[in-house]
Amino acid sequence: MTEAAAPLLAVRGITRHFAAKGPPVRAVEDVSFDIQRGEVLGVVGESGCGKSTLGRLALRLIEPTTGTVAFDGTELTTMAPQALRRFRRHMQMVFQDPFASLNPRMTIGDALIEAVRFHDRLGKTEARDRAAALLRQVGLSAEHLDRYPRAFSGGQRQRIAIARALAPSPRFLVADEAVSALDVSIQAEVVNLLKSLQEEFGLALMFISHDLSVVEVISDRAMVLYLGRIMEIAPIDDLYSRPAHPYTVALLQAAPGGGKRGGDRLLLKGEIPSPSAPPSGCVFRTRCPFAIADCARDVPPLTTVRPGQLKACIRDDLTL
Ligand SMILES: Nc1ncnc2c1ncn2[C@@H]1O[C@H](COP(=O)(O)OP(=O)(O)OP(=O)(O)O)[C@@H](O)[C@H]1O
Ligand code: SF4
Ligand SMILES: [Mg+2]
Repeated sequence: MTEAAAPLLAVRGITRHFAAKGPPVRAVEDVSFDIQRGEVLGVVGESGCGKSTLGRLALRLIEPTTGTVAFDGTELTTMAPQALRRFRRHMQMVFQDPFASLNPRMTIGDALIEAVRFHDRLGKTEARDRAAALLRQVGLSAEHLDRYPRAFSGGQRQRIAIARALAPSPRFLVADEAVSALDVSIQAEVVNLLKSLQEEFGLALMFISHDLSVVEVISDRAMVLYLGRIMEIAPIDDLYSRPAHPYTVALLQAAPGGGKRGGDRLLLKGEIPSPSAPPSGCVFRTRCPFAIADCARDVPPLTTVRPGQLKACIRDDLTL
């Protein structure tokens, strides 16, 4: 009998607190999940819920307060800096603002050549050929190599940022609001590009976005975060057609077009509490219309609703 393949990324109990005046900000709290090879995991939740912090932790761009991250069976959280540098090529990030991550005084070609040569000892000509190939992969052409970032539109810049992330032939990509700054018409093009590259190269992708409709298009599974904790994680069809956590339902209904989902609207009450002073027990309870006294007691564990779909809610009697 063959064993089930180990996940590409295994995150266990990851927690990150940021020092602040007063109690620390609990940006990410005890989050565990896997990403399989070639899988797209969407990450959704309101602003400040810890999406970007989680993405950075997954790549070990920042250190966890506690918890571990293993990439292809290798523990990243205890890896020495030099070994980590070699490992970096497997794990790349695409950010929201491509202009901020491109040096305005460097041609696109030089930026790509630099990215290529950072990880591979290629000669000048080979590196330039590889840069041209990368540009073609993202729908641009070799003639763009000698141009500066300002010559490109927002969508083209994001394509260049994707090309640069692909330069070291990574196996895992974190895209943090990678299309959020683009016009809606351009968003679909860039998302489709990312999806086709992800499929072509069998990349695992953590796709972070506050836009539920974009996440639905690209993801195999998605995770819903609230105040740094997972509320629900499920295959994408289950999450959108039969959400199991009250917060997921509220998020879906609050999204444009979400009112069509039928049933009574589950309106969120009040404001998100401060991540420096999250509620006891279920962190969502101060805004949950179904909260009962028990919800204040313990942090609800993630429990299985149906295969692959897990929710952190103690109430199994709800019809959502
Ligand atoms: N370097 C930092 N120092 C202090 N606090 C931070 C730092 N980075 C993030 N935070 C705080 O951690 C919490 C989570 O932030 P994070 O950026 O991960 O959220 P997010 O879900 O990505 O939000 P958005 O949708 O606005 O991008 C927030 O309260 C934020 O203010
Ligand atoms: S545990 Fe309680 S407060 Fe939390 S989502 Fe479930 S019903 Fe609402
Ligand atoms: Mg963010």
